[in-house]
Amino acid sequence: MPINKQQVRTALTHVIHPQMEKDLVTLDMIEDLVVQDSFITFTIDLPEKDTKLETLLKEKCEKAIRKYVAEDAVLDITTAVNISKFRNKENSGDFPGQGHRSQKKQQDEEELLSGVKNVIAVASGKGGVGKSTVAVNLACGLARTGAKVGLLDTDIYGPSIPTMMDTHKRPNITTQKKLVPLKKYGVRFLSMGLLVDPDQAMIWRGPMVTSAVKQFMEEVEWGELDYLVLDLPPGTGDIQLTLVQTVPLTGAVIVSTPQTVALDDARKGVAMFKKVNVPVLGMVENMAYFIPEDMPDKKYHIFGKHGARKLAERMGTNFLGEIPLEQAVRESGDAGKPIVLQEDLKSKSAQAFVELSNNVMQQLSIRNQEQAPTEKIDIKIKP
Ligand SMILES: Nc1ncnc2c1ncn2[C@@H]1O[C@H](COP(=O)(O)OP(=O)(O)OP(=O)(O)O)[C@@H](O)[C@H]1O
Ligand SMILES: [Mg+2]
Repeated sequence: MPINKQQVRTALTHVIHPQMEKDLVTLDMIEDLVVQDSFITFTIDLPEKDTKLETLLKEKCEKAIRKYVAEDAVLDITTAVNISKFRNKENSGDFPGQGHRSQKKQQDEEELLSGVKNVIAVASGKGGVGKSTVAVNLACGLARTGAKVGLLDTDIYGPSIPTMMDTHKRPNITTQKKLVPLKKYGVRFLSMGLLVDPDQAMIWRGPMVTSAVKQFMEEVEWGELDYLVLDLPPGTGDIQLTLVQTVPLTGAVIVSTPQTVALDDARKGVAMFKKVNVPVLGMVENMAYFIPEDMPDKKYHIFGKHGARKLAERMGTNFLGEIPLEQAVRESGDAGKPIVLQEDLKSKSAQAFVELSNNVMQQLSIRNQEQAPTEKIDIKIKP
């Protein structure tokens, strides 16, 4: 008789979590259950990394399935850390026994990035609007002023910073097992792309990505920094939401191009940060107008005019500046030498990035005068 999912679930009700004293099904720890002929696969979700517990639970699950379902079943059981799911359960009191650990976790989070004065997230709703370009040029623009700056690429699926900073070296590790950021153009930087194989990361589920990013935050020797710029992956989904909760963000910079489809997503980006009480420092209009290389005095508003500026006004958010669409921006990105580092600041986009960096610094000091540091946020995410 073919095996069905219900049989497997019933078998897993016999697997008791050693600390929680409830079964894995009741604790909602079983995900992605697939049954095909005698092949059974599923994931055991855990609130945090615990290798011993993972091995124990896998063994218990295997035993239960062989005993109650089929002795010769072919099993593929994986484990995953799903912070957001269990944080939600802790809050609602559904996941007893985690109170102590949760307190410890909170302390860890408070200490996270303690040597960093300002953490800035560069985000957008839509992909490909120039977040990484803005993040790199903002970091280098801030470093131009003599500030101590860090840059972290959190885009595990499509990391761009190694190319844009022209460095693909693996970072060193200190004797305390902390990663040492790379350094170029006066900016300390790291990219998950330097450590994780992007092809491998493609198959990671959201919680794995966020826990990897959190680990990244904790295990990097950033030292003292005036500014740490985070390049966020595109979108406003669970990954971004968990990311912006994990890190004590000082403020967010939203990037958009002027056209309607990008603006709609930018609006969602602003809403996401407001929802989690992270101040939005303002909006940047990238690719605001096209400047042909051979006619540098011409401006073509190919994606529309002032779309992001108007949206910022409507949403009561600052407008931080407009960056022209110029071939030199793309070329400098591909060559790994951010355009803002142009010595004579000849190009309009280099000037625009300098202005943007100044505006961001100004908004940060206003924000820091007017508001208390961003607190750890407790919001509920649907698992
Ligand atoms: N102002 C600009 N002028 C010319 N080219 C630009 C400009 N801004 C970005 N680009 C180019 O557009 C492409 C996409 O930019 P970028 O990678 O910064 O976008 P992104 O929002 O980070 O994308 P993703 O959502 O994939 O992370 C890159 O090739 C970049 O060089
Ligand atoms: Mg990017």
